[in-house]
Amino acid sequence: MSDTLWNRRFEGRETVPLFESYNASIATDRFLADADVAASQAYARGLHRSGILTGEELASVLRGLEIVRERIRQGENLDRFEDIHTAVEFLLLDEIGEPAKKLHTGRSRNEQVVTDERLYLKKMILEIVELIADIQIALIQAAEEHDSVVMPGYTHLQRGQVILYAHYLMSFFWPLERGKARLRDALTRVDVLPLGSGALGGSTIALDREYLGRLLGFGNLSENSIDAVSDRSFILEVLGVLLLILLDLGRWAADCVLFASAEFHFLDFDDSLAASSSLMPQKKNPDILELVRAAPGRLFGCLSQLVLVVKGLPSAYNKDLQEDKEPLRIGVSTTLDALRVVALAIPRIRPRPESMARAVDDSLFATDLVDYLVEKGVPFREAHALTGEIVRVTGTPGRCLRTLSDDEYRSFHPVFGPDVKDLFDPQTSVRRKRTPGSTHPEQVREQIEQAKRIL
Ligand code: ARG
Repeated sequence: MSDTLWNRRFEGRETVPLFESYNASIATDRFLADADVAASQAYARGLHRSGILTGEELASVLRGLEIVRERIRQGENLDRFEDIHTAVEFLLLDEIGEPAKKLHTGRSRNEQVVTDERLYLKKMILEIVELIADIQIALIQAAEEHDSVVMPGYTHLQRGQVILYAHYLMSFFWPLERGKARLRDALTRVDVLPLGSGALGGSTIALDREYLGRLLGFGNLSENSIDAVSDRSFILEVLGVLLLILLDLGRWAADCVLFASAEFHFLDFDDSLAASSSLMPQKKNPDILELVRAAPGRLFGCLSQLVLVVKGLPSAYNKDLQEDKEPLRIGVSTTLDALRVVALAIPRIRPRPESMARAVDDSLFATDLVDYLVEKGVPFREAHALTGEIVRVTGTPGRCLRTLSDDEYRSFHPVFGPDVKDLFDPQTSVRRKRTPGSTHPEQVREQIEQAKRIL
């Protein structure tokens, strides 16, 4: 930490290495290097417009910053610097000398850090949206490939009604679509340029902020310099949205782990997704899926960490805010990793149609039986009670509803005819559903078409 920005402020200041490293954020904010260089280049152009930098100085600063970016990309050790902003400034001084000393005119690290974070998040949000679309494409492909496979649909993890496996798969498409919409919406609040806010009160340099915003591709300018340097809600909001997305992926992963167990035997996952045991040689464990299931926990950790950093802080910049880097970086990388993994995992997880069909026992047709009676004029509540009784008498789960004779059915209610047996077929059951958005094969097809139109 030999290079500080303020070494003449103190006389004979004792340098305690532990304090210096405790104060530094360079170990966590290196990921902002590209953004810091880009923001500095724009700022230099702004200073040139305001008459602070000559054309020659500007050219030198811009060229120097290119070299600085390369040096950092090549892995230059930055440990001697407090943070990424200090590192970029000192490396620039090292490259070009004198003109570098003008770059920070009227600028504060307080505005730099949020400018960098906003630039970084804008880029990452677009990347995340694209990765979500990759998963959605994989879901559509799997749904189309297995479009006639039926399975039990569960509530309370108890067998409920027959559904199409494709319908089940597509139930993850729509939450992801909402995740993308939330991200795009959050992006409008990330897309705000703080530069020109100074430390907290603005800048005495007549900076053309519109120009800076255009150079950096920001859609909006912050309206209040105090708000601009204090606000971290744009990070909290995005972390919240990422958490929702990971909860959706985690639910899919949890289902897969369960459905791939020997007890269910509904899904077969590729060996590439598995790990075995150090002790039990027979094991094929779904490790990758279990980690996706755990990912929202990490994200919630990032979110709660940052909530607690900002909670109760006085207005404007406080050093506590330096602690926003880790949750931001880890929240984003946790999400990127999980999304990439899931996109590759989906085509490597295949249904076992026979096992699924075997699990479709007669109890899954109980609702169809109710509806049959209703179609024959029996009031729903009565039909429901009657079917409950039939289920109780015949026993569930099982293959019992179809074993009752026509006479036995008629003994429950005279409207029962021989056609009642037609109900006990999974394909018939899904086709009896009529509403848009239902598991009727045609509705599922329409759903998939709609999904393709959206993408
Ligand atoms: N490393 C600091 C952070 O990440 C940059 C801002 C420092 N500002 C200050 N006034 N010390 O928050």
